Amino acid sequence: MLNLLGMPADASTHAADIDHMIVLIHWLMAVMFVGWGSFFIYVLVRFRKGANPKADYTGAKGKIAKSIEIAVVVAEVILLLFYAIPAWATRVAAFPSENEAVVVHVVAEQFAWNIHYPGPDGKFGRTDIKLVSADNPLGLDRSDPAAKDDVTTINQLNLPVDRPVLIQLSSKDVIHSFGLYEMRVKQDAIPGMTIPVWFVPNRQGEYEITCSQLCGLGHFRMRGFVTIQSQADFTRWFDEQLKEQQK
Ligand code: CUA
Repeated sequence: MLNLLGMPADASTHAADIDHMIVLIHWLMAVMFVGWGSFFIYVLVRFRKGANPKADYTGAKGKIAKSIEIAVVVAEVILLLFYAIPAWATRVAAFPSENEAVVVHVVAEQFAWNIHYPGPDGKFGRTDIKLVSADNPLGLDRSDPAAKDDVTTINQLNLPVDRPVLIQLSSKDVIHSFGLYEMRVKQDAIPGMTIPVWFVPNRQGEYEITCSQLCGLGHFRMRGFVTIQSQADFTRWFDEQLKEQQK
């Protein structure tokens, strides 16, 4: 069923749960689609004018319709109570603590993803809208001591494998949507709000950040890259970036 739906590879710890729920919902929808479709065709034939020259004002009597309706409601309640609500509770309510997670700021803009790492001190340097320029899209104040070891990138998000990632997502201009399909992560980026998103990447590789909200003429090219690598490779990459940016 999963392959039938054409799902992308799983690359986060919660991906299988999300997929399981999607499959169940599709099964329910498939049964309802076939059910309604067959019923519609049956009604067209059964109540055709030729067989019913005179309208019957009392209508059809029978208990099947009611039982089917109750069955559909029960199936939907099960999906809500046992899948959707628990998934919401763990994905959206329970965040990893800032000390155990890799914390990254992601700031969307037309039409790029700005990534900001706090560096070894764990503190994000000050950003100021007055400092925003073509080569400093985040407006990072390099004179702030907390900014000394910060690393910023454009459209390139590197993360170590098997560690919780906590992304603080915001936007500089319009509403964008941060989509990591292989991690089963999607969250709108809204100007004026900072929205936390978390996941645990569990498969090394190259993935894509997709903007999933029509955000302007360049929406189609608002695409970033995610590299999930070993902790050692991540540290090496980070040090290289830091050296490069401190020049
Ligand atoms: Cu940003 Cu579409």
